[in-house]
Amino acid sequence: MTTLPEFKQAPHKLLVIPGPIEVSDEVLYANARPSNSHVAPDFVQVFGDCIRRFVISTAGQPFLISGSGTLGWDQVAANLIQPGENALVLHTGYFGDSFQDCLETYGAKVDQIKADIGGVVSQEAIESALKSKKYRLLTFTHVDTSTAVLSDAKAIAETVRRVSPDTLVILDGVCSVASEELRMDAWGIDVVLTASQKGLGVPPGLSILVASPKAIKARVFESRTAPVGSYYASWKKWLPIMKAYESGKAAYFATPPVNLVYAYHASLTRITKEAPSLEERFKLHRAASKEVKDTAAELGLKQLPLDPAYAATGMTALYFPNGVAATDVLPKLSANGIIAAGGLHAAIKEKYFRIGHMGITVVDGQRGDIQVITKALKDVFAKL
Ligand SMILES: Cc1ncc(COP(=O)(O)O)c(C=O)c1O
Repeated sequence: MTTLPEFKQAPHKLLVIPGPIEVSDEVLYANARPSNSHVAPDFVQVFGDCIRRFVISTAGQPFLISGSGTLGWDQVAANLIQPGENALVLHTGYFGDSFQDCLETYGAKVDQIKADIGGVVSQEAIESALKSKKYRLLTFTHVDTSTAVLSDAKAIAETVRRVSPDTLVILDGVCSVASEELRMDAWGIDVVLTASQKGLGVPPGLSILVASPKAIKARVFESRTAPVGSYYASWKKWLPIMKAYESGKAAYFATPPVNLVYAYHASLTRITKEAPSLEERFKLHRAASKEVKDTAAELGLKQLPLDPAYAATGMTALYFPNGVAATDVLPKLSANGIIAAGGLHAAIKEKYFRIGHMGITVVDGQRGDIQVITKALKDVFAKL
């Protein structure tokens, strides 16, 4: 791993929006290494490691492609569904609409089941939709970043497997991977898509997706009759590239983001090889989340998720008290050293704000980030 103990990033306000998040000196320094060839032996080793080491699944095929989280939607829409086929989107906030929009861009026919704001879609509603027609795939947002609602991935996958086993289960994990518990293989999830800038603790720019062997076999090699409607997002193009790097060889389709891959490697090494373990990591996220949410409750702030059972642990969404607006709060939080995010869900955008607590902000207790967040909340809301 690249280390430069004397490298320190410039002092700055704590970035606690729900992604991008704070990035460690070590990861930033890995990004700042001299330019390197994408076919150089040391890069082949590092890129291969990143593909092999993405521990979300032991069976699935990772795709690491230059792009943001949105590229994961394009990959799903381009490769796993054909024009005219049905998709079911579970909506727990803003990102359900965008995923639907992306699927429709590629010609899929999309039905949406919409939860109440702050709620989750019931298993009964999913079951009844799956019985009503044949869906090629179902998508859901594990944590919807606009609402902080955490969907029950295990239960959703179980329902799909039981009622419509051929329907592929697609999990948008942009705001959940590395913060929320997720067992892709054990829960029977076909695709997990995410990005570098949230729980994985890397600057934005990498689309990271894992597809089950079933999804790849069924849609890339067997039952596809229509051409893939994207050049850059086509798994037919990327699969040989990923396989080559995985086996220690270079291959070219489009230039990978070399420096960012080094940064990702540094973060992944810390996450997968060093303390804390994944289990410990999830525990730390739960504890940090409780601290932030308990502080908010003491200040009389109401959470956006309707039930604590499905509130995310990597972020918190809080309604402003009556008569208080974002402009009364966010600049004051900033003056207290933290950058938080405003609302995003169109229907209630002005009424709430969001705080992210993922990655080193949670895992590296010595930084004291959680205490900075809770102190800023107390200072600002006590004086409103
Ligand atoms: C849940 C979720 N899905 C998808 C996206 C899109 O990712 P990106 O902005 O990296 O394209 C985001 C972005 O915040 C997100 O939070």
